[in-house]
Amino acid sequence: MKLAVGCDHAGYEAPHPYMPAIIAHLERLGHEVIHMGTHGSESVDYPDFAKLVCAAVLDGRAERGVLLCGTGIGMSIAANRHHGIRAAVCATPDMARLSREHNDANVLCLGRRILTLDLCLELANIWLETPFSGGERHCRRVEKMG
Ligand code: RB5
Repeated sequence: MKLAVGCDHAGYEAPHPYMPAIIAHLERLGHEVIHMGTHGSESVDYPDFAKLVCAAVLDGRAERGVLLCGTGIGMSIAANRHHGIRAAVCATPDMARLSREHNDANVLCLGRRILTLDLCLELANIWLETPFSGGERHCRRVEKMG
């Protein structure tokens, strides 16, 4: 799958920068990753990178997006400002699964300061593998969001 990924400086926080590890993991799984930045630990504003990732998803350069910030919250708020984006901040395997099955989430948001790296990778795996259920009530609700 083609994935657009992005983060703010939290993605490169020492001593274990998560963003490069997440990208390497996604590539190991066979995904094609477009990294929209940021690329280092210098302080930046998360809405700028949410915008780049959402644009890539909306114009078809990527099928889905993955965003990382300190909590995942700022990225999810920023991403959901973009019409057609359904961004889900996930902290448990059930949230990752249900955001796909019920909400057809097209952007996954993760929190560097909330989750272990292993949990981030597990959530990404689940989120990428889980299809939208396509159930009538879920389609209707997703359609109502435009
Ligand atoms: C940046 O320090 C932090 O505020 C940001 O990464 C994010 O957690 C915001 O929601």
